Amino acid sequence: MLYVFRMKAVLVLALALAGGCGNDTRLEDTSPDGSQPDDVDAAVLDGATAYAMNCARCHGVAGEGIATKGPQIRNPVRGFAKYTVRNGRTMQLGFETGMDAYPEEFLSEATLDAIMDFLAATPKPTTGPELFRRFCGNCHGANARGGRTGQDITEELDKVSEQVREGNGGTNYGSRTTYMPRWSTAELTDAEVGLIQAAIPTL
Ligand code: HEC
Ligand code: HEC
Repeated sequence: MLYVFRMKAVLVLALALAGGCGNDTRLEDTSPDGSQPDDVDAAVLDGATAYAMNCARCHGVAGEGIATKGPQIRNPVRGFAKYTVRNGRTMQLGFETGMDAYPEEFLSEATLDAIMDFLAATPKPTTGPELFRRFCGNCHGANARGGRTGQDITEELDKVSEQVREGNGGTNYGSRTTYMPRWSTAELTDAEVGLIQAAIPTL
């Protein structure tokens, strides 16, 4: 696990090694696309850089997920996503590992917000199945029949739109059986919710 505060040491080491062989694995871990942070002294890293250094090796270069390492995390629900980063998570979704917690000493609040901005900037998909995968699939499973909530929602189609607008469990982010986010019409339009509802039985 590489935290932001170790970045300088890692870069110094990596650059020293790169001088010799140009093929240091630590460099690949922190920066899978091969790019280098421009300003390692910046108190707040820009979101794309901080994401690449801390998250990409498990969640993919732009939050799209990696089959064995970590789920897609684009268009995050901020409170819930930040809670997960701060608290980590035990294995619930069947990846190789769970996720370690990132306390504030290692990842400042401002940098975490910048990472969230970076993930939020991803364009939304346009089809029902893709919208479902992006916004619902991590909790309800790829086929909407369980996932970490353990609830089959294919028989609850009439409740989709109310549930999406109201959510459940407030900010009880740690509870996988009660917490569900709510999305405003600015975040998910009625048309998008309709596409998701229509897709659920077909997954
Ligand atoms: C070592 C791999 C690893 C790293 C590094 C990592 N994660 Fe994760 N993350 C995971 C795994 C695995 C899960 C799913 C855990 C489970 O429930 O089984 C997860 C879950 C999440 C979730 C919850 C997704 C959801 O919808 O339930 C968010 C948000 C998240 N990670 C964000 C981040 C961010 C932001 C970073 C970088 C600061 C990061 N992760 C770094 C492996 C990782
Ligand atoms: C962070 C996890 C999480 C996400 C993301 C999530 N849900 Fe849920 N959902 C839950 C939980 C937990 C429940 C059960 C809570 C309850 O009893 O109402 C639930 C219940 C439901 C129900 C059943 C409601 C009922 O009254 O039986 C529907 C329908 C539903 N979700 C649809 C969706 C749709 C559509 C999305 C994506 C737009 C979505 N959920 C995203 C966690 C989630």
